[in-house]
Amino acid sequence: MAYETLIVEIEDEVALIRLNRPEALNALNSKLLGELAEALTAADANDAVRCIVLTGSEKAFAAGADIKEMSEKGFVDMFGEDFFTPETEAMLRVRKPIIAAVAGYALGGGCELAMICDFIICADNAKFGQPEINLGVVAGIGGTQRLTRFVGKSKSMDMHLTGRFMDAAEAERSGLVSRVVPVAKLVPEALSAARKIAEKSALTVKVVKECVNRSYETTLREGLLFERRVFHALFATEDQKEGMTAFLEKRQPQFRDR
Ligand code: HXC
Repeated sequence: MAYETLIVEIEDEVALIRLNRPEALNALNSKLLGELAEALTAADANDAVRCIVLTGSEKAFAAGADIKEMSEKGFVDMFGEDFFTPETEAMLRVRKPIIAAVAGYALGGGCELAMICDFIICADNAKFGQPEINLGVVAGIGGTQRLTRFVGKSKSMDMHLTGRFMDAAEAERSGLVSRVVPVAKLVPEALSAARKIAEKSALTVKVVKECVNRSYETTLREGLLFERRVFHALFATEDQKEGMTAFLEKRQPQFRDR
């Protein structure tokens, strides 16, 4: 499938999706987000894909929602089209893991898009920010909620109220990203993490994603119960038998995703 604003490659069971609007630092317009929702949904449905990596360029993951496209809109337009909600909801329905590989700017909607992914690996030149306040608006696809859960209230308030950027070291220190690597190693590192995930049972991988995401949606007590029941349920799978037998037989497991 050919896209106008994305480059998609599938190799070794990993889909690499690259945002490709270099003239606008990968600013998120409706075309790009529509294509991205479509590409992610297609990768989720494709049996040849077990993990997804989403990246941009070395200069920008994405510099935010496209300000040119948004600037003339009014409330009725934004509310009427439920601006970017169908696209982000489609991304949240993806059950395979999505790793964000962020180099350069991840600002506004770009930072929010990275946080919609399951985890973030960033390059040492990454800059995260929620500068919407400088445009007289607020984050619109989860920034005030997700960044606060990632880095805590104080730092989130600071970022949203001052519009300042966070560099890679601060992002790692604050728990926003899982790893920082030199920019030239970013995509290889993310692909290597994705391939590692692709070796696991696809069934167990989906369960892990559901369990961790559950911790955002519910109380600790309910989350613990959910995890415990799912843990029990996995003992009904062939992959649990294979994983534990392989360990005892001192060999690599051969998972069959069932
Ligand atoms: C549209 C953008 C853009 C954006 C950059 N460009 N960001 N176009 N929307 N968000 C365009 C510029 O207009 C310029 O086009 C080209 O990309 C290169 O950008 P420069 O500004 O010349 O580059 P540089 O000087 O290196 O500065 C980089 C930058 C700056 C610091 C990232 O571009 C910047 O501040 N961008 C805006 C960041 C921002 O405010 N993001 C939040 C958006 S609101 P031309 O044609 O002039 O060469 C948002 C809300 C989310 O995201 C809510 C979702 C629903």
